[in-house]
Amino acid sequence: MSIPELTDVHPAWLPPEAFRAIGSRRTVVRADGPLAETVRQEVAQAGGSLTDAGPADLVLTLSEAEGEDGYAISRRDGVTTVAGGDPAGLLYGFFHVVRLGEAAFEGERPVEHHRPAMRRRMLDHWDNIDVHPVMGQVERGYAGGSIFWADGALRPDLTRVRAYARLLAACGINAVAINNVNVHATEAHLLTDRLGEVAAIAAAFRPYGIRVHLSVNFASPIVLGGLSTADPLDADVRRWWAETTEQVYATIPDFGGYVVKADSEGQPGPFAYGRTHADGANMLADALAPFGGVVHWRAFVYNHRQDWRDRSTDRARAAYDHFAPLDGRFLDNAILQVKHGPMDFQPREPVSPVILQMQGTRLAVELQVTQEYTGQQRHVCYLAPMWSEVLGFEDVAEAGDLVAVSNVGDDRYWTGHPLAQANLYAFGRLAWDPALDPAAILDEWTDLTFARPGEPLRRTLHAMMDGSWRTYERYTAPLGVGFMVRPGHHYGPDVDGYEYTPWGTYHFADRDGVGVDRTRATGTGFTGQYPEPWSDIYESLERCPDELLLFFHHVPYGHVLQSGSTVIQHIYDTHFAGAEEVAEMRLLWEKLAGTGTGTVAADVHARVRELLDEQLRCAEEWRDQINAYFFRKSGVPDAHGRHIP
Ligand code: GCU
Repeated sequence: MSIPELTDVHPAWLPPEAFRAIGSRRTVVRADGPLAETVRQEVAQAGGSLTDAGPADLVLTLSEAEGEDGYAISRRDGVTTVAGGDPAGLLYGFFHVVRLGEAAFEGERPVEHHRPAMRRRMLDHWDNIDVHPVMGQVERGYAGGSIFWADGALRPDLTRVRAYARLLAACGINAVAINNVNVHATEAHLLTDRLGEVAAIAAAFRPYGIRVHLSVNFASPIVLGGLSTADPLDADVRRWWAETTEQVYATIPDFGGYVVKADSEGQPGPFAYGRTHADGANMLADALAPFGGVVHWRAFVYNHRQDWRDRSTDRARAAYDHFAPLDGRFLDNAILQVKHGPMDFQPREPVSPVILQMQGTRLAVELQVTQEYTGQQRHVCYLAPMWSEVLGFEDVAEAGDLVAVSNVGDDRYWTGHPLAQANLYAFGRLAWDPALDPAAILDEWTDLTFARPGEPLRRTLHAMMDGSWRTYERYTAPLGVGFMVRPGHHYGPDVDGYEYTPWGTYHFADRDGVGVDRTRATGTGFTGQYPEPWSDIYESLERCPDELLLFFHHVPYGHVLQSGSTVIQHIYDTHFAGAEEVAEMRLLWEKLAGTGTGTVAADVHARVRELLDEQLRCAEEWRDQINAYFFRKSGVPDAHGRHIP
């Protein structure tokens, strides 16, 4: 293996400058095996000298006491030491030194121990082999085609995948599911006759300590195995999965496991056979157990064929209603993968009650790095503050796994919007340590990506990004109500777009008020799925946090929020403010062009500028549609007399 080098692709947070400090030092690596070899190659690539013995500036060694993936870092008498709990820990410790740069080689450093909070820090790709006529190749992908497949086949050159693996390892990620959870006909074959492609991708990830997982179709025994059923309790079906899985491990011994979306949005699942989701998940867990694999079984199960006239069906309730009765019935290597909110990656949702309540089940919390509902990588929307809030809520951070839908494609900047790289980086870092401060993560990312730039750029990036999620929230759907987007592609405003569709009803606005009554007293009863004190807090009109008010309550436009503003005035104020904040962002970025810092390459500057134009156009469209909609419904004028079209 050699360090992947790409010429036409942006280096993201690992430009050559990030290795400068190591490049002028002597390093000794006291460990063997493939990951230690990766570290040696990294040092050599950086131009650093590798010594076997003799004086060294940096010593990388192993020390079991640091535990799985962990490491200790210290500096004494002019020598920086990294002690990895295992070879992966050594690699993570090495990248810690990269992050520190020169500071890693200055002064004395008392021993610091680092251990990941999450055992599995995982990205799910929603990549297909084929190009879907509507979705494109990557479902909800905003960064071009797949980095794995092109023209219906595995890409012959996987250098880019190796470069991706390297970026991921540098922020602590250790697992990747390579294909879409909606497993279509072609992609189903990755499990069997196209397994060689999975093996090749796994080989590209392996040098960076990343295991490959595969999304599989629950009906595989039928579509691939020629059986007449996929019933999880059927002996032939179980044998088929056991044998197929054995084959997978014979080909890829460190294979991670399966990801399954079952009985969801048209995917097949155990319901067809009158079985439970525990039956389905456990069947796969049984097949994987002999090899140490896991199944990530998704809890995203709801009725997408609702009748909007029926006010008792509440999509928010669905995951809990389906899964809570199964708590304690999943095998140890069956991990229930739950979206962070009860809905679907909206810019603001409460934490899913499934995460808070299923104490007897191993859980993975799922986030969306790809910005499906947060600006589709055309808008600056730094998501670390949102994730940090989610992870800081009750015991969410105690989930064993943190998973996110990747935002990467074959785009020159990896993520479409160059600044969206920060979301990918931040996801890895928060999965490692959920207590990290989002602003500090942004500094790390900035220092690496822009080669430790001066204050002007750092300040500009903070001013543009720290609050960008809240800015996005301000100019889009108000007070937690969600889903006022154009159905299908989910970009831009469409207040009633979903209101009368089978996918669920989300705001119930009329001339008097707006919001969804999810109380126990008069609504769908969703608040009752929460443990105390949250079930009471959300139930109470007075105590429910403003930002979630319309998620839990239907209120008159004149209802006074905790902030002191009325709901209708809040809608106007936030929408004017949100669009203005985007205009400011755009000015800040514009000014950067004149500062002559030389740290933002001209192409990056131009791409971001172009996207900020679109963000401003879209934010103004949101502002005007939302304000006009609610003004027309309510007839209440803006207290400040601003123009509402
Ligand atoms: C969202 C998204 C779909 C995706 C689904 C999922 O609904 O729009 O494209 O398949 O989530 O998470 O399975």
